[in-house]
Amino acid sequence: MALLLGDTVPNFTQESTDGSIDLYDFLGNSWGILFSHPADFTPVCTTELGAVAVLKDQFDKRNTKVIGLSVDELSSHIGWVKDIEETQNVKLNFPILADADQKVANLYSMIQTADNKMTVRSVFIIDPAKKLRLTLTYPASTGRNFAEILRVLDSLQLTDGFKVATPANWRDGDDVVVLPAVSNEDADRLFPKGYEVVRPYLRMTPQPDK
Ligand code: BEZ
Repeated sequence: MALLLGDTVPNFTQESTDGSIDLYDFLGNSWGILFSHPADFTPVCTTELGAVAVLKDQFDKRNTKVIGLSVDELSSHIGWVKDIEETQNVKLNFPILADADQKVANLYSMIQTADNKMTVRSVFIIDPAKKLRLTLTYPASTGRNFAEILRVLDSLQLTDGFKVATPANWRDGDDVVVLPAVSNEDADRLFPKGYEVVRPYLRMTPQPDK
């Protein structure tokens, strides 16, 4: 059955370019991003893995560990990593699961086309309690926007700490929305920078952690 937001994600042990990985042990108290790609030695995937490696300091800043996956063999991954590093000018700094037996791909429903065994471009954001907080599914032909994934991490981490939600196209530092369940009386106390009542259900306040 497909995983739903809020579910505890299933643990697994699988081979990777950094040795055997137990998901829960690997993540520890960090946030996690598990993302699949269709196959090794393919052009879009090569650019994606390079782009994620370039963002390592951004993921570190957000206490987030990244794991890639495809259903190719470890020996294939090792050759491909060399190519990624040469063509994308970056050292790969996160593990890629070699899910040749499709154990993880099946557990996380990453194979969605009946006629071939390739994984789609799935993204799972996992919080430190191992709860699933976001899923994204992209087709093979579309490389992902990893700035968007960082933006969602920022939103999740902010809204876990304050009674706010982030509006359309929000970016870190922009005004945020006071949760509708918060009374004006509580909002006066919770948001000392004040808030604008656009409608009784739409109240905007400066980002509280800035
Ligand atoms: C790619 O990563 O370039 C790719 C993989 C599978 C199908 C289409 C493109």
